[in-house]
Amino acid sequence: MGGEAAWTIQLDDLGYEVAGRAVLSGVTLRSSSRHIGIVGRNGSGKSTLARLLAGLLAPSSGRIRVAGIDLFRDRRAALRTVGILFQNPEHQIIFPRVGEEIAFGLRQQGRSRAEAEEGCGAVLRSFDKAHWKDAPISALSQGQKHLVCMMAVLAMRPRLLILDEPYAGLDIPTRRQLGRYLRRADTRLLHISHEPGDLAECDELFWLDRGRIVARGEAAHLLPEFRAEMIRLGDLDDIADFAD
Ligand SMILES: Nc1ncnc2c1ncn2[C@@H]1O[C@H](COP(=O)(O)OP(=O)(O)OP(=O)(O)O)[C@@H](O)[C@H]1O
Ligand SMILES: [Mg+2]
Repeated sequence: MGGEAAWTIQLDDLGYEVAGRAVLSGVTLRSSSRHIGIVGRNGSGKSTLARLLAGLLAPSSGRIRVAGIDLFRDRRAALRTVGILFQNPEHQIIFPRVGEEIAFGLRQQGRSRAEAEEGCGAVLRSFDKAHWKDAPISALSQGQKHLVCMMAVLAMRPRLLILDEPYAGLDIPTRRQLGRYLRRADTRLLHISHEPGDLAECDELFWLDRGRIVARGEAAHLLPEFRAEMIRLGDLDDIADFAD
């Protein structure tokens, strides 16, 4: 095993380019915190980092390990190790009905049809949504689709759950329910958001800006700093608009 597997996440000088343009560069990070947060403004590279961590993209340079595993090369291990909730539910949903969508991930993990059925029923019940099982996904609202994706990924019980803006589009009761469920879930979380309020419970926070990690720290220190900087930038934009 060596020391490597001790880290939940280990990124070494990670770089990712699209059409010769650096989207992420020099990202070095090690963390075994239970609840890791990534904060950054729009376009800073958060979703790209999420896909790399889930093993869905290959890095252009550098190295990624999750629980010591190279998830891009080892897809079988990836399915056991990481779950990802995409920012856009349309990128995640494949099946027409809620129950099928949830059961699919479990089947992918090699569970039997009966186990998948049981796991699907259990997660639906835990969100008081047992009656959604045969509902057509196309008839659900955006927030409800988001919740279906969340339930599907939680049912798979990944060691690390990557949440890309998980609260976007969810109303207050559903957010609170989801927050409670995530606190209870036996999984490490990597929570991505541009909204500081969403990340207050993180144990360790990384601030991503223009594809680089610019700060690391505790939520209580870093979030007020991030918020102040975002307000400062917003005010600057206004001044620039007036000057143009
Ligand atoms: N496949 C791609 N092709 C072209 N550009 C891309 C691609 N993927 C990402 N980018 C660019 O990389 C940058 C980072 O995108 P990313 O989606 O990772 O940002 P983000 O921090 O998740 O933003 P948001 O807060 O808006 O979700 C953006 O400028 C985006 O346009
Ligand atoms: Mg994003």
